[in-house]
Amino acid sequence: MYRISQEGNIEWSLGQLQAEFDLELSIILVSVSGAQVDGFVCGWHVSGELQVMLLAVSRNRQRQGIGTALLEKLLCIGKGLGNTSAYLELREGNETAMRLYGRAGFSEVGRRRRYYENGDTAILMCKDLTIQF
Ligand SMILES: CC(C)(COP(=O)(O)OP(=O)(O)OC[C@H]1O[C@@H](n2cnc3c(N)ncnc32)[C@H](O)[C@@H]1OP(=O)(O)O)[C@@H](O)C(=O)NCCC(=O)NCCS
Repeated sequence: MYRISQEGNIEWSLGQLQAEFDLELSIILVSVSGAQVDGFVCGWHVSGELQVMLLAVSRNRQRQGIGTALLEKLLCIGKGLGNTSAYLELREGNETAMRLYGRAGFSEVGRRRRYYENGDTAILMCKDLTIQF
């Protein structure tokens, strides 16, 4: 999982990733083929809101629907746990992720300038989990 997050330019340390497994509010879903991890998604469910923290797919397994499937499953579990909305942030210019989240029903609700360490802007997106798409 750490290798995949590094490939995807996700600024999480190994320690941060490992800490996710100890959090009660954290949901982690992993896509595997054989002994190989192909991708994963991590979300937090807090006070009726699902926060999508990380979504990443191994470079050689991208564009095969794995990212979409992981996100859809997380949203389904989050909704089942009683969450009524889902939030996420992504780096401006990450067009693949932006399209994926848009197809999954997320809309842009704001921007945070210079949010990332390198000065990139974050785009905030939200989805109402009470509406059927
Ligand atoms: C964003 C990310 C998770 C998408 O994962 P993915 O598994 O490639 O996602 P999908 O396969 O569901 O969709 C990606 C594209 O493949 C296309 N696709 C899906 N299945 C396909 C198939 N069988 N044949 C051809 N194309 C396909 C989708 O239509 C989509 O096309 P688009 O980019 O033109 O809209 C991946 O690119 C990644 O790990 N990026 C780095 C980390 C990152 O940016 N994470 C998101 C922010 S936290």
